[in-house]
Amino acid sequence: MIFLGQDSEGEQVYLDDSRSRAVLICGKRGSGKSYTMGVLLEELVQRDDVLVIVADPMRNFHTMSLPNREQESMLWKWGLAAKGVPVRLLVPGDPVNRYGREVIKAFEKRGVQVEPLRINPGDIVPDGWLELFGLEITQPMGIALYRAVQRCHQQNGVHFFVPEIIERLQKDPQVKETSVQALILRLETAANEWDIFSSRYLELSEVFAPKTVNVIDLGVLEISRFGLRNLVLAVIVRDLFRKRRDARLREELGLPAEMPKVWLAIDEGQEFVPSGKSALAKEPLIQWVKEGRQPGLSLIIASQQPGAIDREVLSQCDLILCHKVTAAEDVDAINKLSHDYMAHELKHYLRQLNRTGEAVMVDDFRETVTIVQVRPRKSQHGGAER
Ligand SMILES: Nc1ncnc2c1ncn2[C@@H]1O[C@H](COP(=O)(O)OP(=O)(O)O)[C@@H](O)[C@H]1O
Ligand SMILES: [Mg+2]
Repeated sequence: MIFLGQDSEGEQVYLDDSRSRAVLICGKRGSGKSYTMGVLLEELVQRDDVLVIVADPMRNFHTMSLPNREQESMLWKWGLAAKGVPVRLLVPGDPVNRYGREVIKAFEKRGVQVEPLRINPGDIVPDGWLELFGLEITQPMGIALYRAVQRCHQQNGVHFFVPEIIERLQKDPQVKETSVQALILRLETAANEWDIFSSRYLELSEVFAPKTVNVIDLGVLEISRFGLRNLVLAVIVRDLFRKRRDARLREELGLPAEMPKVWLAIDEGQEFVPSGKSALAKEPLIQWVKEGRQPGLSLIIASQQPGAIDREVLSQCDLILCHKVTAAEDVDAINKLSHDYMAHELKHYLRQLNRTGEAVMVDDFRETVTIVQVRPRKSQHGGAER
């Protein structure tokens, strides 16, 4: 059980995690979404048998290594103490290039372990390459790249890198020289400037540490460029899904399995599972929530605009934590998530929220609606405006 806070009668409120869950956290800006996500992470990181990973576009979670000194008196009232948790900060690319040495030193002083994160080119499907470069399968360049990647997959499985793709392109007699040159330029730029591709095969699941909040700093990648944030998340999600599904089979056969269950949290989720738009991480995340439950994959997704999140993902969420919302269109979007077992529509409960950190909790497993005051954080929250 995950301790979350108190209801209006002062009873403790828990989230049942005996099965895999898909949790939606919503609410307007500054209503407590990232804070609540941090509360869940604090509870989960105490477990021995789960990996805790957070995709962090806003850089809100590295501060979890520090104790929450600012709200110590509030913690005291709850009978809790300020305390940091182990944090590993995974940086797409080279941490020294991304942050500089001084910043890395400062992180280390706070007990944050900084590690590079690189993805395997062989883990990106042909369609993913086209989307990355904004190419269509109907264009000659799109066809050429698709075919080159497909051949690499056929020959080497997942064990190929950017130079092998370039070699394939050069050997393809059907591609015009100008297209070859244009594609090589893009691939080389990708490899050198983005600096997110691995040059030897890495088991991604091994870069995550147990009993640690594994924070993926997606903030180092610019939002507008080439869907790189989506790419990184997509590759990780696919890798974890595969590994965990295989581990589950081994467990069922009584064999040892190394890959634990996973709780993946995504802040600003609309960027990765947008409704009515394509995004590289969308399909793997839909698979995660639809087929990942049985093998032990859970999701927490936070967003200011639930209406901007893909319907398939929303419909899979079995627990909603909704903080204060005021914009009529957001209230409408949330109200659509009302269920038959509820005495009133969701918008009725939303009106009862007053204080910071208060949320309506709709639990499909228990078929209950509760107004909960989320407990204060033991570790420092990083999203506060200063
Ligand atoms: N449960 C809570 N208890 C105490 N303070 C909270 C709680 N939830 C949120 N806050 C306060 O509200 C601020 C905004 O919360 P935050 O999670 O950053 O908002 P957002 O919804 O934009 O992610 C935080 O900096 C924190 O001070
Ligand atoms: Mg936030």
